[in-house]
Amino acid sequence: MRCRAKSQLRPSRPQRDTTPTDPSPPRDPIAMTVRRKKLIEVSLPLKAINAASAREKSIRHGHPSTLHLWWARRPLAACRAVLFAQIVDDPSAWPEEFPTEEVQARERKRLHAIIEEMVPWKATHDERVIGKARYEIARSLARERGDAPPDENDARAVLTYLAQHAPPVCDPFCGGGSIPLEAQRLGLRAHGSDLNPVAVLVSKATCEIPPKFAGTAPVHPDVDRTGGWAGASGLAEDIRRYGQWMRDEAEARIGHLYPKVRVTEEMADGRDDLRPYTGKDLTVIAWLWARTVASPDPMMRGAHVPLASSFVLSSKKGKRAIVVPTIDHGSRAYRFSVKTSGIGPEEVARARKGTKVSQGSFRCVLSGAPIPYAYADDEANAGRMRSRLMAIVVAGQRQRVYLPPTRGQEDNALSATPDFRPGQPARGTFASNAQGRIYGFRTFGDYFTDRQLVALTTFSDLVGEAREKVLADALAAGMDPEAPRLADGGTGAEAYADAVATYLGLAVGRASDFWNGNATWESGGGFVAHAFTRQAIPMIWDYAESNPFSFASGNWAGTALEWIGRVVQNLAGTLTRAAVIQQDAAGKTPLLYRSVVATDPPYYDNIGYADLSDFFYVWHRRTLRDVWPGLYRRVLAPKDEELVATPHRHGGKEAAERFFMEGMGQALRNMHTAGTDGFPVTIYYAFKQAEVAKEGLTSPGWATFLHAVSGAGYVIDGTWPVRTERSARTVSLGANALASSIVLVCRKRPDDASAITRRDFVASLRANLPDALKKIREGGVG
Ligand SMILES: C[S@@+](CC[C@H](N)C(=O)[O-])C[C@H]1O[C@@H](n2cnc3c(N)ncnc32)[C@H](O)[C@@H]1O
Repeated sequence: MRCRAKSQLRPSRPQRDTTPTDPSPPRDPIAMTVRRKKLIEVSLPLKAINAASAREKSIRHGHPSTLHLWWARRPLAACRAVLFAQIVDDPSAWPEEFPTEEVQARERKRLHAIIEEMVPWKATHDERVIGKARYEIARSLARERGDAPPDENDARAVLTYLAQHAPPVCDPFCGGGSIPLEAQRLGLRAHGSDLNPVAVLVSKATCEIPPKFAGTAPVHPDVDRTGGWAGASGLAEDIRRYGQWMRDEAEARIGHLYPKVRVTEEMADGRDDLRPYTGKDLTVIAWLWARTVASPDPMMRGAHVPLASSFVLSSKKGKRAIVVPTIDHGSRAYRFSVKTSGIGPEEVARARKGTKVSQGSFRCVLSGAPIPYAYADDEANAGRMRSRLMAIVVAGQRQRVYLPPTRGQEDNALSATPDFRPGQPARGTFASNAQGRIYGFRTFGDYFTDRQLVALTTFSDLVGEAREKVLADALAAGMDPEAPRLADGGTGAEAYADAVATYLGLAVGRASDFWNGNATWESGGGFVAHAFTRQAIPMIWDYAESNPFSFASGNWAGTALEWIGRVVQNLAGTLTRAAVIQQDAAGKTPLLYRSVVATDPPYYDNIGYADLSDFFYVWHRRTLRDVWPGLYRRVLAPKDEELVATPHRHGGKEAAERFFMEGMGQALRNMHTAGTDGFPVTIYYAFKQAEVAKEGLTSPGWATFLHAVSGAGYVIDGTWPVRTERSARTVSLGANALASSIVLVCRKRPDDASAITRRDFVASLRANLPDALKKIREGGVG
């Protein structure tokens, strides 16, 4: 189904564009030729695209988005389909070849079938399907040029033709790299840029680095180099080998901080489930801690009591386990034990509340006195908040086993003494900023326990050491010793060592998402959940501290390293080369000239990318500054130029909106200058379900954005609703979540067309969009 935002906004567009677009740069020859209608300007198989996009969200292992966290990633299926339809001509553009509507419809159906076949995730591993799409793009371009198309059955010839004649794709807000990656997959040259160094690194690792080492055999001396190493599989093998070396080395250095637990007779007393383990040493998966503050009840004389949001360890039927606090009123003390049998649903429901009494307060376990969040905040900010071990999760025989805390385990954890602590200022727990509470999180170092800091620092140091080993092995394997470093465009031994180090550094980034005091124990699934389950840093009262050396959830080898190995392994060697750079989209440096622009800009005030990314930036910087000196030269990610309407940064809501509007306007003008005239621009723009329901697209985010699009000299030629987010994500829970995007298809406005005032613009939106929105809803989006 197609939904066009047709309105007075769009002046009638002549088929032949003879107007110069910008006097300064050289004229784009395509501007002088017939402006062909592209498929995306007429129709799309939206149902198939949205179904594949929705399904993609549940693909975990090996999906490029699991390389490293980045926010608001677009589904690859949607990016692939949009790019294809943006470049391939609609049959109506060739009346001489497709003279009647019927013939055109038949041809369109054929093109839709190609899209339908290429959008499912499994198609990304199917060279035949992707090859067909590439050929169709080449054929469309060849028709325009008057060339004979390349041989359909010669994949290399098709790629060569595209390399020579297809315009490059430019995404100036590339984030995690979804659009450039899909451009590469379709055989197009891809150019991505983003302001944020973390996004740039993630995109480089996704798009730029793997093709450089495609077909390269691993250099690790224990690997048989003679086998076939297709695509990036050699690189993936080295990442795994040197990452495993890091794990073993780290265990030798700091393993004593992660001791096993001996199951004693005392622990097993009354616990039949522990009988098989009595006397055995079991590997810890996670230590579960509750933050504590001194009870505000004067009768308790400063005794520290837990702020536990839940006492449930396992909610699985038949395997229920809860923490039970036992109070000794005489000595104003309590201890935690673990109960695993005879737990009814009511007891689970009670345990689910932990020591919480309401949304805004806990109770003292000793006296029942209320402990408001504001009090906890004061105590934390005064440096008086502590933690107490509630339970230990260990690996039993193919199951999780829950043990009570022991003094030895607690003392051991607290004995860790880090020699590095990221001192860069942090904004606290974002979710609580509105109330002005920061719970003592003043610097990024505050998000981690001492033991976690020791672990992250050790692994961070080991990336540098692993790089030295890779370099020595790459030289021994005969790689070019003289070629420049990776950041300078090299592909020799030094660059290869940089490449492996980059992925190992990203693994440290992944680890930091799990090894922090805001990670939680997921009692339904029995695993450690990372801190960024939403687009904020929430306050976590009871947190899970993973064991990097376990063989389960939250460890180094699986959770941090192997996820990266699988992504790199999957990145096919037939990807064309890509370039990703750090650049302000609204800055003075021009964007890639004569490119096809496809982009996904930030949505008004929805995500504070730079503030969030600093959590990772501080670890990336420590680990990879030598490898990517340009990216990590600053102490924190750049904020001033970030196109997000953040009141706290701009001194109020209005100033933030002005900043966003002006910056986005400039970015769009930059795109206007750079974009080739022969193709429309596609811009993904998110909308919030609640916003659409209540206000239509005239909400501040949309009105501001659409006005900027119009002001930059574009006309909106069509809109497509594309499903981009799972509706059941944590962030959607009452948080006015982004559920879908609208892809705007824009063309440059002819110079003689009149501009529109913002007032008229909004009035026009109000008049025309209800119908469009109805169609969006009918299209099953969101
Ligand atoms: C919606 S995200 C892009 C997500 C991307 N399409 C993906 O799938 O991963 C918007 C991006 O714009 C970037 N950004 C914000 N201000 C910018 C600026 N002034 N110049 C360039 N990029 C900017 C953010 O860092 C963020 O990565």
